Order: sequence, then structure tokens, then C-alpha cells
Amino acid sequence: MGRYRIAWMPGDGIGVDVMTATRVVLDRLALDATYVPADIGWEFWCREGEALPERTCAILRETDCALFGAITSKPKEEAQKELVPALRDKGLSYRSPIVRLRQDFNLHTNLRPCRAYPGNPLNYRDDVDLVVFRENTEGLYAGVEFHPVPQEVSDVLAKTSPQWRRFAKLPLEEVAISTRVMTRAGCRSIVTQAFDYARKTGRKRVTLVEKPNVLRETGGLMTRVAREVAKAYPGIDFDEANVDAMCMWLIKNPQSYSVLVCENMFGDIISDLCGQLVGGLGFASSGNIGDKYAVFEPTHGSAPKYAGQMKVNPIATFLAAKLMLDWLGEEERARRLEGGIAKVIKEAKVRTYDMGGKATTMQMAEAVAANV
Ligand code: NAI
Ligand code: MG
Repeated sequence: MGRYRIAWMPGDGIGVDVMTATRVVLDRLALDATYVPADIGWEFWCREGEALPERTCAILRETDCALFGAITSKPKEEAQKELVPALRDKGLSYRSPIVRLRQDFNLHTNLRPCRAYPGNPLNYRDDVDLVVFRENTEGLYAGVEFHPVPQEVSDVLAKTSPQWRRFAKLPLEEVAISTRVMTRAGCRSIVTQAFDYARKTGRKRVTLVEKPNVLRETGGLMTRVAREVAKAYPGIDFDEANVDAMCMWLIKNPQSYSVLVCENMFGDIISDLCGQLVGGLGFASSGNIGDKYAVFEPTHGSAPKYAGQMKVNPIATFLAAKLMLDWLGEEERARRLEGGIAKVIKEAKVRTYDMGGKATTMQMAEAVAANV
């Protein structure tokens, strides 16, 4: 048995293609690991009514961390239709397995490095080097939502919030509510991790991306906590930006930012923007990190139109594997992997279609493997 036990979850569509490629690279690095295959994705929803089966959760509980490809998910009505007949009308409802993984395993921190590798024809600029810390279990994605709004919720809101009164007049079916739930502990944790990371990696600037002038309570709490945490890191500049303005600043001057820290939804949006600055979905990786467990993944989906064609860019998943190696304490292998990726990008001989080339997913894997 290997030194590490790693849950291996290719999932759906191109998730399988990019994970197959990543295995080639990890094998070349001779990581002393046992990879434990685990079921996740659409197929399991259709056949079993559960996209994240309990047997997979059991594997996650007894492994060190997981590498995950991508899944397919579909809107409510379609999800119902694709269930096997025996499971229809059982009141099952589809829940995103990724959101569940994050919440059930308390993977509170989403880490998304976005670095422009020299020579990548898709770089917006060659000097972008951003790292986004996104809170991963709370905020607008906490899952506290209502439609129709229950009468008792409406009554309490009418009593406690003057802003609610104009909505309280409407029929309950005509209103939907998604809440933004933020805790002091959640805010403190994500900001502290952003600062710790900056200190550890020698970065000089941490920017909080929020909207406290409008989201006065949640944004206000996050801002106060961040200011307090920042005091403990005198060598690192702390500044604040509103999320809308930040979308403009990141296009105007992405090179002047370093570490960004955000609530869940703002982080989701900002990190896609940052990902596109450095090559888009073929390059965007992330780690979902908790105190004891972590799940690493490319941020793209299952891209059904390319599924099984071995055509898409596996670099995002290689970079996810690099994050995994860092997290496992395998820094030397992490460096070799990133070095191999950077070299192949710079040499410009092997490029997948998104980079303007004709190389296959496996040719990219072989090229990177040859350089680690
Ligand atoms: P997607 O990320 O799967 O693909 C969108 C497009 O981006 C593709 O058609 C392709 O042109 C390009 N692309 C994606 N990955 C690429 C790669 N590695 N190399 C080169 N090009 C790449 O997003 P889409 O099409 O909106 O969603 C497809 C399915 O994936 C849906 O069912 C969606 O719900 C799911 N999804 C799952 C995610 C996850 O597993 N984390 C994240 C996003 C979407
Ligand atoms: Mg996203």
C-alpha cells in the first residue's frame, strides 16, 4: 500500500479524459500513492438517485485527500426525467455533489491560484500572478433558500425588517429568497488563511473583495474581521475593494494584485475572471481545503461535446494535482510538476486546441511527464 491514499473521482464527460492524463503525470513523478476509485456524477443520480453515493463518502473518510475531474448537472425538471423509472416520483431532488462535498466535509477554503505561464498564447498579460481565497461553505451559497416563502418566515421578516414590508404584500408564491449567511468564524478563517499564505509565499498584498456599502451586515462583518486580522501581519499591505469595481481593476491592472480574499459567491465570480486572465478553463485549478481533508479539481465542467475525444487541455487538472502535492507536503514533486508544465507551455511544441494547437490530451500528458 502506498504512503498516501488518494480518492480518485473522474466523474463525467471530460472529467474522465483529464484524469486519465493526470495519472500518467503522477505515475512519472512516482508518487507513492494508492488511488482509490470512487463513484460520483450524473450516472449515479440517474441510476441510484444520488450523485454522491454513501460508498463514495466512506472512501473519502478513509483517504488522505481526493482528486476530482468534473461532473454533469442539469436543472430540476431534467434531473427528474432522467431518473430510472423506479426512482421517479419518490420525492428525490438533485443536489450538486460538489456543494455537498464542500459542506459535508467542511472544506471551508477554496484556493485558486491564477498564474500566467510565460509563452501561454492565452495569457491576457504575461505578468499576472493572482491567488484567490474563496470562502467555500457559507455566504450566498449556504443553501438557506425559500420558494415559496413560508408564511412564518414572511411574518418574522415583516416584524423585524422594514425593508421586507413591500415584499410581504405579495403572494408567497411570487417571491423567492436566497440568504447570505456569514459567520465571524468563517470570515476570520478565510482571511487568516489568505494572510498566512501571503506570509508563507512572500506575497506583499492582500485585497478583500466585498460590497459592505450595500451588503451592510454581512459585508460589514467580513470587513471588520478582515481589518482586525490584518493587524497581525504588519509586513503585508491590506486593502479593500468593492466586487464590482474589482472586476474593472482586474482587467485594467491585474498585475498589481496578489492575494484576493472573498465570500463564496464573490469568490466564485472573481476567480473565473482571474482564471480567464491566465488562459481560461484549460488552466484553472482549485483546491477545496478543510482542516483534515481536501479535494482538488480543475474548475471546468464535463464539457459533454468533447467527452471521450481526448482533445481537451489537461493542464488545469495537472495544476490541481500540483496543489494536491503541495498540500500533502510533497513540495519537491509539486515543483517538478509545475516546472514541467511551465516548460511545455514555453516550448510551444505541444498545444491543445484551446491553445491553438492540435495536440491530444494524452500528447500533452506525455510532454509534461517527459519534463518532470
Ligand atoms: P464546461 O466547463 O464543461 O465547458 C465549457 C466549455 O469550455 C467547453 O465546451 C469547452 O469549449 C471549454 N473547456 C472546458 N474545459 C476545457 C478544457 N479542459 N480544455 C479546453 N477547453 C475546455 O461548462 P459547461 O459546458 O457550461 O457545462 C457542462 C456540464 O458541466 C454541465 O452539466 C455543468 O453543470 C457541469 N459543470 C460542472 C462543474 C464541475 O464539475 N466542477 C463546473 C462547471 C460546470
Ligand atoms: Mg464556478
